[in-house]
Amino acid sequence: MARHLQWKNLVIDQILRTKRDGHALSTSQIDSFVAGVVSGSVSRPQAASLLACIFIRGMNDAESIALTRAMTDSGPKLSWPGIDGPFVDKHSTGGVGDKVSLVLAPLWAELGIRVPMISGRGLGHTGGTLDKLEAIPGYRCDLDDEALHRVLREVGCFISGQTAALAPADRILYALRNETQTVECIPLIVASILSKKLAEGLDRLVLDVKVGTGAFMKTVGDARTLAEAMVRVGNGSGVSTRALLTDMSQPTGEACGNAIEVMEAVDCLQGRGPADLRALTLALCDHPDAERVLDSGAAFERFARMARAQGGDLTRLTAETKRWELRAESDGFVTRCDAWNIGRAAFVAGAGRLRAEDPVDPAVGVMVHHKVGDHVSRGEPLATLWHRDRAVDEARRELLLAFAVSEVAPARVPLLIGTVEPTAG
Ligand code: URA
Repeated sequence: MARHLQWKNLVIDQILRTKRDGHALSTSQIDSFVAGVVSGSVSRPQAASLLACIFIRGMNDAESIALTRAMTDSGPKLSWPGIDGPFVDKHSTGGVGDKVSLVLAPLWAELGIRVPMISGRGLGHTGGTLDKLEAIPGYRCDLDDEALHRVLREVGCFISGQTAALAPADRILYALRNETQTVECIPLIVASILSKKLAEGLDRLVLDVKVGTGAFMKTVGDARTLAEAMVRVGNGSGVSTRALLTDMSQPTGEACGNAIEVMEAVDCLQGRGPADLRALTLALCDHPDAERVLDSGAAFERFARMARAQGGDLTRLTAETKRWELRAESDGFVTRCDAWNIGRAAFVAGAGRLRAEDPVDPAVGVMVHHKVGDHVSRGEPLATLWHRDRAVDEARRELLLAFAVSEVAPARVPLLIGTVEPTAG
């Protein structure tokens, strides 16, 4: 075996033994591992083995910061020469009906903040921002670096997909984590999410960490642990990072699908729409003029400009489907409006996908008419399934499970559960 290959094997052997035995990896060990994953000199079994060791042994903050930086730097970072910042983005850990990015990006842009938003597709019961935007006929989510730069310069924001060059280590490691049951591991999640965000060339990042049945994190404790780790690693990587913990026990807003979520985002951008969507957007925006700008309609104009610059024609946005209504069987208060079941109903009707390469149906979804705490009369619609005859029985079953009505009024569910700010020092 050539000498340099022998040396490389010794390095990866030592890295594996270090983490296997519960010790911290050095920054240079982490750099060698990530570089080797991308070049192919670290084999897939070796990489999978280290992921399993990290899953079991964990990582301290210094290791997490080093892993995030190495993954960020595994491809060229985006940069914005000739455009004045600040450059700011938001990341949500994902939920049902979460169309906040569609409102927040143009709102921030209208407030003079530049938003280079690289977003993802939906998997399972949660929707993806790109799938929603692609419900706008012609909207392109595959902009190259030159187009990203042009749209950011001309409009002040873009929402597009990950380019092949952006944080390539994450693509390889995420696929391996899916194959090896090592996804649910805080340092690996933090590095995966933040490497893609930090490669956008940001000054500031706001995280929306969702909690509840429809979220990745089901308990406040788990969500806080993830949020605190992301805030420490984000700030430790030189990007001012804060997090909100927000409710995902029921959907955000009323629309859960693709085209219907864009329509609801447009309402919100024009100062209308559901109160919770508006409140969440304003909390994440964190700007004294945000309400005034939303109400003025200027953020909507900005959104329309972004859509046009990315090839989309908002005037052709439609969702023509059959409808089925779930109606309350008695008078009373809604005590359950479950994000997981509602997300599942939209998913089985075709709004979501199981594998990244599967298509989604832009038109179908669920429109929620009442949330927890609302009073309803017998026969009043609780939700409407927008469908095209796909898996209708299963979607109806999910909607039946999603709702409960009782004579006793429940406590209202708070939307904002907490915040995680950077610690001084
Ligand atoms: N989303 C990501 O991008 N990475 C993870 O590890 C989990 C969620």
